This record gives sequence, structure tokens and C-alpha cells, in this order.
Amino acid sequence: MRSTHPQGSAHTYAGRVVEWLTTDIMHRQWLLLAACSWVIFMFMVASKFITLTFKDPDGYSAKQEFLFLTTVPEAGRLREEKHFAEDPKHAQPTGKVAPSSQLVAPLVYVERLELMRNVCRDEALKNLSHTPVSKFVLDRIFVCDKHKILFCQTPKVGNTQWKKVLIVLNGAFPAIGEIPESVVHDHEKNGLPRLSSFSQAEIQKRLKTYFKFFIVRDPFERLISAFKDKFVHNPRFEPWYRHEIAPGIIRKYRKNRTETRGIQFEDFVRYLGDPNHRRLDLQFGDHIIHWVTYVELCAPCEIKYSVIGHHETLEEDAPYILREAGIDHLVSYPAIPPGITAYNRTKVERYFLGISKRDIRRLYARFEGDFKLFGYQKPDFLLN
Ligand SMILES: *[C@@H]1O[C@H](CO)[C@@H](O)[C@H](O)[C@H]1NC(C)=O
Ligand SMILES: *[C@@H]1O[C@H](CO)[C@@H](O)[C@H](O)[C@H]1NC(C)=O
Ligand SMILES: *[C@@H]1O[C@H](CO)[C@@H](O)[C@H](O)[C@H]1NC(C)=O
Repeated sequence: MRSTHPQGSAHTYAGRVVEWLTTDIMHRQWLLLAACSWVIFMFMVASKFITLTFKDPDGYSAKQEFLFLTTVPEAGRLREEKHFAEDPKHAQPTGKVAPSSQLVAPLVYVERLELMRNVCRDEALKNLSHTPVSKFVLDRIFVCDKHKILFCQTPKVGNTQWKKVLIVLNGAFPAIGEIPESVVHDHEKNGLPRLSSFSQAEIQKRLKTYFKFFIVRDPFERLISAFKDKFVHNPRFEPWYRHEIAPGIIRKYRKNRTETRGIQFEDFVRYLGDPNHRRLDLQFGDHIIHWVTYVELCAPCEIKYSVIGHHETLEEDAPYILREAGIDHLVSYPAIPPGITAYNRTKVERYFLGISKRDIRRLYARFEGDFKLFGYQKPDFLLN
């Protein structure tokens, strides 16, 4: 502009400088104004984007308030904006199957599902990753119709707590603390039906439309936990584990016939790793849920689960599951004692100490599907 300034001879040099300065100041003011408008416009776009993208606008209300405070000059128009922004919430009171939920799902949960689907397609693992959706599987899945949730039970990974959450949601008890321990697993009394109790059509409808999840943990650590809990110090009164199942396993799988101690982890490992374990499984009935694979329990390649939780990251996974299921405003997961969810390699090494590599490899061969589907590292420190 300065260069195109008319050469008006009437102007003194000083005058020209003053003129230049004022036009430059005006220029800058315009630039500033344009910049402000641009910023305000961007804020409006951003606030609209935030409220439309996230499933639950309430959770971000603090952030929105901040935006409105910073754009005071345009308050009149923004109030309209805000009013409009609240509409999606009213249209979608539960926020349940919000189409946008995929957008905000943290990457880790998306990657878990992707990994699982890839392993499901792997031909070499087919008979370790696939299982029919039998009555046995439908018996493992609990139903919350009120909130359209299916939960597949995988013992030894904090399932009792999840069952309590669902019992409260179904309305049989007002709060988690009020459910007697004896009722949690009594499906006559706890108002938590199994999927198997519905008709074929009702089952299919629920499998297709409900939010579905289950929890896993390192497969070998889970077996250790099951062994301790059922055979070493059974905290519930379940004498059949020690008095019927353990002797059955010892009779068939004990290596050292002169050894007279009660069941050892080695006996258990040899039973589980036996390709012909099914003959004993049939005798043991549904008690095998404590040690059969996640594949056999939940049919993860046949049923399209919404979220797979990991026991090792339960502190983050539990609130995420409640949020995705649209029930986080109704219940919370009971407090998790610190340190109990972390994988403990020392413990795993100690339990497998003295067990032959051959037996451990056979065990791994049976549980390989679980390791691969859920992203658990092959325990080379035990196998080689
Ligand atoms: C799985 O497949 C392998 C060969 O691909 C076979 O040897 C094994 O018996 C199968 N296991 C089961 C449980 O069917
Ligand atoms: C078998 O068990 C007995 C009794 O515990 C023990 O004395 C013996 O050393 C064991 N034999 C082998 C080969 O481990
Ligand atoms: C891991 O397990 C070992 C053996 O059972 C135990 O001594 C140790 O305290 C455990 N470590 C943690 C961090 O829990």
C-alpha cells in the first residue's frame, strides 16, 4: 500500500508518515478483526463438532462452558448455537448405540477386536479358535434385557463383580452391597437369566442387537488361579473339587505312583494338556468352566462381541465397558484392590517349576488359541 500511495505533493514528509501510520494501524485493526472473527467462527465450528461427535455431551459440558466464556461478544448467537447443540442429547436419551461411539473408542479396544477377527480367520488355528454356539456356551452368557447387555462368564477374572453389577441393573437388588454372597451364583434367585433360557428366535435377536462383552486374563495365570481357588483353598464350600474331581485327575495323570500327596499343579497341567481330556471333562460336568478355554466358554469367533476387557487393565477397562454399555450413570464397578490385576511372572514360573517341558508344551498347544486371540505373549520362558 505504501508503494502505491499517491505522490500528493501537498503532503509533508511527516504528514505522509502519519498517514502511513494510520492506514497501517487501520490495516492492522482489520487484520485483528478478521482474525477475531475467524477465531470465533472456529470456536463455533469446534463447539458444534464436539457436541455432535461425542456420545454424551454432558461429559464435556465443562469444556463447552469454557468455549462460551471465551466468546462473550457473540453471546447472543452462541446461545442459539448452544441450544441447537443440546438437541442430539434429547434425541438420544440413553446414548446407547450411538453411531459415533466408534469414533471415540480408544484405539486399544478397536485393536483387540481387530486382532481377534484376524486370528479367527487364521486357518492354522481354526480348531483352536472356533467352537459351536452350543447350549454350553449359551449357559455361560447372562442377560440384562433392561439395558440390552450380554455378559459371557469367564471364571477367575473378576466375574462375580460383573454379575453383581448386572443383578443390580436387572433390579433384583437395589445396590451391589446388598446382594448376599450366596445369591450371586444362584440363578433361581438372583434375577440374572442365562441366554439359554430363551427361545431360539429370542436368542438370535439378543445376539444380534445387544452390547456383548467378556473379560480375559493371561491364560496360564488364570489356570493357576483356578487351581488355587478350587483345589488348594476353596473359599466357598465346594467339597466336590477336592473329593471327586481331584482324585479323578490323580488316578489318570499322576506321574509318580508312589507320591501320595493331594492334587499337584503338575497333575492338573497333564490333564489339561491331554488331547483326550474330554473323557474326564464329561464326568466333571459344568465344573470344567473354571479351566476350559475362553474359546469354549464364549465362542469369540462365532459371536460378534462389542468389547473384550483385560483383567490386567481392569482399572481402565471396567469404566470403559460401563460407558460403552450406556450404564455408567447407573452403576460403578466395585473398587479393585491395588496390585491384584497385574501379571506376575514370578508366580507363573514358580507354579511351573519342575513340570516337564513336554507337558507344558502340550498345555500351551491346547491354550494357544486363547493366547493368540487375546494378544497374550507366548510364554517362551516356560517352553524352551
Ligand atoms: C486340531 O487340528 C490338528 C491338525 O490341524 C489336529 O491334529 C488336532 O487333533 C485338532 N484338535 C482338535 C481338538 O480337534
Ligand atoms: C516319587 O514320590 C516319592 C514320595 O513323595 C518320592 O520319595 C520319590 O522321590 C518320587 N520319585 C520321583 C522319581 O520323583
Ligand atoms: C508375585 O508372586 C510371588 C510368588 O507367588 C509373590 O511372592 C510376589 O509377592 C508377587 N508379586 C507381586 C507384585 O504381587
